[in-house]
Amino acid sequence: MIPKNVIGAGIDRVDGPLKVTGGAKYAGDVSLDGMVYAVPVTSTIARGNIASMDTSAAVKAPGVRIVMTRKNAPPLFKGGNDYDDACQSGEDWMPLQDDEIYYDGQIIGLVVADTLERAIHAADLVETSYQSCRPMVDLTAALKKPDTSQPATALGQPLQYERGDVDKALMKSLVRIDRTYTTPVQHHNPLEPHASVAEWSDDGSSLTLHETSQWVVNSRNSIARMLGIDQSKVTVRVLSPFLGGGFGSKGYARAFSALTAAAARELGYPVKLVLSRRQMYSLNGHRPSTTQAVTLGSDRRGRLKATRHLCGTYTSKVFQYIEPVVLSTQLLYKCSSLRTGFDLARMNTGTPTPMRGPGETPGLFALESAMDELAFATGVDPIDLRRLNYAERDPRTNNRQRWSSKHLNECYDKGAEEFGWKDRPKKPASRRDGRWLIGYGMASATYPAQNTSSSVKVSLTADGRAEIEVASHDLGTGTYTILCQFAANELGLPVSKVSCRLADTFLPPGPCAGGSQTVASVGPAVIAACKNLLTFRKAGMPGEETVTIPGSQPNGFSWQSFGAQFAEVRVDAALGRIRVHRFLGIYDVGKIINEKTARSQVHGGIIQGIGMALMEASAFDPYFGRVMTPNLADYHFPVNADIHGIRVSFIDEPDPHFGPLGARGLGELPLTGAAAAVANAVFNATGIRVRDLPILPNTILAKG
Ligand code: MOS
Repeated sequence: MIPKNVIGAGIDRVDGPLKVTGGAKYAGDVSLDGMVYAVPVTSTIARGNIASMDTSAAVKAPGVRIVMTRKNAPPLFKGGNDYDDACQSGEDWMPLQDDEIYYDGQIIGLVVADTLERAIHAADLVETSYQSCRPMVDLTAALKKPDTSQPATALGQPLQYERGDVDKALMKSLVRIDRTYTTPVQHHNPLEPHASVAEWSDDGSSLTLHETSQWVVNSRNSIARMLGIDQSKVTVRVLSPFLGGGFGSKGYARAFSALTAAAARELGYPVKLVLSRRQMYSLNGHRPSTTQAVTLGSDRRGRLKATRHLCGTYTSKVFQYIEPVVLSTQLLYKCSSLRTGFDLARMNTGTPTPMRGPGETPGLFALESAMDELAFATGVDPIDLRRLNYAERDPRTNNRQRWSSKHLNECYDKGAEEFGWKDRPKKPASRRDGRWLIGYGMASATYPAQNTSSSVKVSLTADGRAEIEVASHDLGTGTYTILCQFAANELGLPVSKVSCRLADTFLPPGPCAGGSQTVASVGPAVIAACKNLLTFRKAGMPGEETVTIPGSQPNGFSWQSFGAQFAEVRVDAALGRIRVHRFLGIYDVGKIINEKTARSQVHGGIIQGIGMALMEASAFDPYFGRVMTPNLADYHFPVNADIHGIRVSFIDEPDPHFGPLGARGLGELPLTGAAAAVANAVFNATGIRVRDLPILPNTILAKG
């Protein structure tokens, strides 16, 4: 049967049955002959030095194979800091090489035993004493310190940016909004904890790593470098066929993987390390908190004359991670005078790392809240305000360069219609249903369209089956399924006759599953390989084809995705409880490849957005610098009972100037702007403007 309209169809996940039957093997599921278990010993202070470590009891504990500390650890080397060369580590610092403590939960030792329980027990027996100092974990205070810097760029884009004359334009503006917004520390909290299983060949000539990785090619290169391995002499293979979520936390390579491999090399046995939930709050990154001063100036009707967005955030003491918060402000609206600024402090925290929509997500909370404040101040409808300031062309190019395609106005129209925006309470705190105050809010969403080089191998058998192989990833997003759809479509095969192997560095190299770029990077390579196989397919002959295609080259257009998000909230007037009663997202991401997996990804983004608006926050103890929320009881995110009606629509217009598919990628866009839509709805419901996330019932009660 020749498939019709395979592209776009809501096809079930091809890996679904494996996942629901337990047949999908995740890194932490891997069990090897003679395998032993590693547990990190972690610091209980956030700043200072190790004075002494007494390992005598741990060494004698039953089943213990080795206790590694600074005293007996093998040398480990700084990983790479080169994203473009696929050698990107999460930190510059390597554990067990010095006595300094930079953050709470830092690795200071590793215990390996024959069972997990024995390793946990022995790790508890290690006695550590410290010389400790007061850590810096307060963002406002840290931003005043001399080691605060003003990085010029992030991701090749300017952070310190100005067009026009902002000060003059602000002075002349009849309406001014001048507010500070803050977002808290957030943790990715994938369901699957980070894991690493390392196995060496007997002669030491090859190392196999089963990793929780969004980027196996990077894991291989970075971990090899940390171990001091010359890859021309030692074969390193990294596998990560299934992931239980990553959200960015599994993109950069981590030192604990190298430590696991080093322990396996010392012992001559395979070693497994799985982080505990608590350790995941220190060792694999987080979204840093931000403080953002946004100033908008407009005429009486809300036409933007000036925009200023100054962000302060932080990184750790051991890596310069930059959360590129202000970039989307430079392009979302037409505004001739605009300045962004960025201050980066250093704190005694674990190192931040990309988290779904890094930069755009906290940045749009501030900008889209400020736009709502401007709408209220001018009396202009929030959607009309955004239409009034619509960027028909890229504002970063003096409104000269066109977007490859942009249907944001359709998102506003379609969203307003489907949501029933015209019924929005015109005045804040004016609609009530019993104890519930009802409010509507909206916000724009935006995220850049990215793609990069990928290789792919497609093999065709004589009996008409095809197999795709590429070292890229399915984080739970649907990559297995959509790559099969591409091949089925090109080769004229049913999807059931196509299979796909992913995330193994022995396969042709593919990109990081980050930056929402997998569809637009790997998809074109699959299509190109299949086209080259068509003559074999027509002749009913076996064949195989490996292709490498570059990412899209600059073609005179700006590539960006957009969306509009709508929330109806109900706020309990007596208790301040907030419930997102309805949420609607409309997205313009070019062509949709699989309506079902796309919808599912958007649901995840919106749920994270509701969590960001109302629940999620990690706190550091102000005196000791310890993470106070290192578990799923204290770190709150939505459960099913918190989620009500979510609706999703796509514009589904192929982008004629972005890649052969016209598909721009989707994963990160729906989280951007989502928290602002909720916050704006809370204002409409209550008349209370909350500028500090998350919005908690006590804030509503205190201000109400
Ligand atoms: Mo994403 S934060 O680029 O995995």
